[in-house]
Amino acid sequence: MKINTLTLKNFRNYQKEVVKFEDGLNILVGKNAQGKTNILEAIFFAVIGKSFKASKEKEAIKWEEEVASIKAEFSREFRDVAIELIFNKSAKKAVKIDGISIKKIGELLGNVNAVFFSPQELKLVKESPDERRRFMNVDISQTNKRYFYALNRYEKVLANRNKLLKMSKDFNALKETIDIWDKALVDLAEKIYLERKLFIEKLAPFAEKAHNYISNGQEKLEIKYDSFDFGDKDFKSEMLKALQKNLEKDYKHGYTSVGVHRDDLDIYLNGVEVKSFGSQGQQRTVALSMKLAELEIIKERAGEYPILLLDDVFSELDIDRQKRLLNFTSRTQTIITCTEFNLKSEVNILQVVNGKVQKNTAN
Ligand SMILES: Nc1ncnc2c1ncn2[C@@H]1O[C@H](COP(=O)(O)OP(=O)(O)OP(=O)(O)O)[C@@H](O)[C@H]1O
Ligand SMILES: [Mg+2]
Repeated sequence: MKINTLTLKNFRNYQKEVVKFEDGLNILVGKNAQGKTNILEAIFFAVIGKSFKASKEKEAIKWEEEVASIKAEFSREFRDVAIELIFNKSAKKAVKIDGISIKKIGELLGNVNAVFFSPQELKLVKESPDERRRFMNVDISQTNKRYFYALNRYEKVLANRNKLLKMSKDFNALKETIDIWDKALVDLAEKIYLERKLFIEKLAPFAEKAHNYISNGQEKLEIKYDSFDFGDKDFKSEMLKALQKNLEKDYKHGYTSVGVHRDDLDIYLNGVEVKSFGSQGQQRTVALSMKLAELEIIKERAGEYPILLLDDVFSELDIDRQKRLLNFTSRTQTIITCTEFNLKSEVNILQVVNGKVQKNTAN
């Protein structure tokens, strides 16, 4: 998959701009605050129908303007597709695929795929298990609606169980009523467990390969799924037992202590935990490798590699890792932002200056 042309009107700091991309590597280079990340935001917006920024969508409209639009023309192996987003200060955003308006954002998904990486992604390695669960949830949900529904139901059942734990005045009465929630929770937990296990089994070897390559064979990345431990027995009956065993404690705390809402990923480099002992560059490489592994998983599903969008990826990587990263991504159309670039000559270099994008003809 690739993007050929991006046309922006009144999107963030762009007034009217047409940007042409090439196959392979495209570098958006420019000083701070010129509009590099805004370009990646626009492309990803066209792919998934929303921004990767937490801010309100309407804030993407250029200050003092009423209407903005993004038009992205993509090519897939067997067809082209144009996606257009029109933002209006006083109306809902409109989305068109090949000129035809769609009603639900869901219809947009699957037309084009992209993987986006930014310095924020370090959270995946450094912060709480929440981030790693979110990573699994977002990725698995994209390919698997059953997972998405199971997860939603699990969260509801869990919320109900927790409510009961908090509200019950009498422990004995609780013991009798909590049963139905436990059974529902265990059923859904097993479904989620199985999908996450499968996902990590697929992802881990791809991530290991990417990391090994970028670190020049120096570092072995291991990602392990850390979930409810049921030994060699049956998941559901063991989890049910654990829920019962912990009931008194959970009643005291008003919180369910057993289940897949406590899942995590254990991430090691050469046998050492990355979260506590990895250097900045190592942590960045790990997060990046996990994202690069997504390329392979999407390729398996969609039949083609997605577009790779890398925001500010070079900071904290030494020059060798930077070069190896560029080689590693040669199979996909890749768009990278940076403030300086002199690593490769045969690439499409685009200079970004104050909301204008110009092809660098010196190369
Ligand atoms: N709605 C908007 N209207 C006008 N300008 C905006 C709007 N939203 C953001 N901007 C401006 O766009 C500018 C460029 O932002 P962007 O994040 O793309 O910069 P960048 O080139 O990626 O910089 P850096 O190297 O610092 O990451 C910012 O200075 C910001 O103030
Ligand atoms: Mg930026």
